[in-house]
Amino acid sequence: MSDAALLNRTLAIEVALVTEAAALAAYKLAGRGDEKAADQAAVDAMRRAFDKLEIEGTVVIGEGERDEAPMLFIGEKVGTGRGPRVDIALDPLEGTTLTAKSMPGAMAVVALAVGGTLLHAPDVYMDKIAVGGGYPAGVVDLDADPADNIVALAKAKGVRADQITACILDRPRHEKIIAAVRKTGAAVRLITDGDVAGVIDTAEAHTGVDIYIGQGGAPEGVLAAAALRCIGGQIQGRLVFKTDDERMRAERLGLKDLTRKYTTSEMASGDVIFASTGVTTGSMLTGVLDTAHHLTTETVVMRSATGTVRWIKTRHPKLA
Ligand code: FBP
Repeated sequence: MSDAALLNRTLAIEVALVTEAAALAAYKLAGRGDEKAADQAAVDAMRRAFDKLEIEGTVVIGEGERDEAPMLFIGEKVGTGRGPRVDIALDPLEGTTLTAKSMPGAMAVVALAVGGTLLHAPDVYMDKIAVGGGYPAGVVDLDADPADNIVALAKAKGVRADQITACILDRPRHEKIIAAVRKTGAAVRLITDGDVAGVIDTAEAHTGVDIYIGQGGAPEGVLAAAALRCIGGQIQGRLVFKTDDERMRAERLGLKDLTRKYTTSEMASGDVIFASTGVTTGSMLTGVLDTAHHLTTETVVMRSATGTVRWIKTRHPKLA
């Protein structure tokens, strides 16, 4: 069976049930100031929703290793056990702080890929650079100076550097990058959290974001790579290790060269489906809308096999 047939259209729609469930559960705790509770609610709901999915799934990017995460741990089998054998990368709540503070841009995220095709990234940091579709491969490079990347991108886009916007996580560790980008005249859009959307925004013209630069979570890097495989764009990432324990975890996951720079298709090499449901409204998605009798969710589902992008708006009756 071809990869495209394996991850079929029906599955692409059903996977929305998984991210919807997580988003609805997290939404109940939006603005309550408790990141852990919001994350746990999303994890529990996502785990239950996976049980109904007709897949033989293995979590390769999840909530942590078996001894630290009771649910959705790396290696956990999910799904009914009938259906395609798939690798799963998930982030039941991307933006725990955003949710706890009821700030924009929290979402539930899942990627389903043909078995063996997703990078098994440990939960460490990753240096990332990403641009949207339509540029030659390697137009920007993780190892180049931020300013040189801005100039190269502006040239490839046919605009001046001051017409480029870079999305960067607002962290002290990014001070130098931010200063270097601004020195070229380019604008910097700072985000407080949520770099899966930060990367995807580079591929969506309406966001005005041209490039994502900076260090964020490695799992988020793989999820973003999965999305770019579907909608076009390039990401490069390199894992960042701060302790020996982190290095050991990577080795346990089978990674040999810990200094390697990964491209989009090295992080997500096979056919993939990416799905995300908004918890709070952000650049990508409308958050859960709460009205008298219903909760309405917005989900985006992307397929690499066809390049289709579906937005699914679902009205869920409130249970008495
Ligand atoms: P969580 O939802 O797990 O808190 O992740 C949010 C996030 O902003 C990610 O999008 C990003 O990759 C990472 O945290 C950045 O990490 P840090 O907050 O440590 O800089």
